[in-house]
Amino acid sequence: MMRTTRSIQDEILRLKKENDVCILAHAYQSHDIWEVADYVGDSFGLSRQAAAAPNQTVLMCGVRFMAETVKILSPQKKVILSHSQAGCPMADQMDVDIVMQLKEMYPDYSVVAYINTTAELKTICDVCVTSSSAVKIIQRIKNPNILFIPDCNLGDWVQKQVPEKTLKLVQGGCPTHLRMTVRDVERERALHPDALLLVHPECHPKVTALADYVGSTTGIIDFAEKSGAKSFIIGTENSIVQHLQFSCPDKTFYALSKDAVCHNMKITTLADVYDCVNGTGGEEIFLEEHIIRGAKRCIDEMLRLGR
Ligand code: 13P
Ligand code: SF4
Repeated sequence: MMRTTRSIQDEILRLKKENDVCILAHAYQSHDIWEVADYVGDSFGLSRQAAAAPNQTVLMCGVRFMAETVKILSPQKKVILSHSQAGCPMADQMDVDIVMQLKEMYPDYSVVAYINTTAELKTICDVCVTSSSAVKIIQRIKNPNILFIPDCNLGDWVQKQVPEKTLKLVQGGCPTHLRMTVRDVERERALHPDALLLVHPECHPKVTALADYVGSTTGIIDFAEKSGAKSFIIGTENSIVQHLQFSCPDKTFYALSKDAVCHNMKITTLADVYDCVNGTGGEEIFLEEHIIRGAKRCIDEMLRLGR
């Protein structure tokens, strides 16, 4: 008998109950994965859910640093990353040696790490942030001097919201969001003059400067769902265009660029999710105890300041 999307989803729902698995999915996962997840959200929402999930096993459908965050917050649990090759290129842009050198150069600065960093790197930083929590957390840090790693686009956007702080930015960024350009904005605005432009702060500052709204993945979804406008140009990973078209059939969504696809987020398929809940797929996350302890301090501080 031919397996259909529906029949695989039914099997996943049965197996996750039977095997006590909680499925967390980042918003950039495909819609068939959203439909079987216990929680879908942005990086900050996922971190909060990771700490709260009652199940013994957590399956993270997303990228490696997200699964590491779950393990750090719930070390007693079995944590599975949905696909062993799902990394985040930005998380690998900076290592411990580079950050140690920066700390020597800027000894009076608090080191703020975007959550898109490795667990090891988090052990030498002061606090993590996500795109939806960065402004609030940086406002609440007492130190006026902030060394912000590794996304200088997000850092630049935060600096504009929090002018009372001095942010030292270091070269780094998301290759997916960097693909969106001012030319894309000009083209899409000309094609859809009534549409609002909603973009992620990982986009280039010249792109965010032209936007009607700048926010995290969940922020963009909430804004579009609540807005009275009828059409939107979406400047983030393109799965959000599809998800919004499902949730708001009376509105129209256009991708800012057809190239805004994160292949790391997209490498996980529904069949991988099935293998994971069946106990035969994905990669179990193991972290050394000192890494868990050091990185947890950084993530706990994010959860405390981001409340
Ligand atoms: P948010 O989930 O915070 O919107 O970040 C987007 C992203 O690129 C995650 O890797
Ligand atoms: Fe990393 Fe960018 Fe992909 Fe997010 S969208 S996982 S930041 S490469």
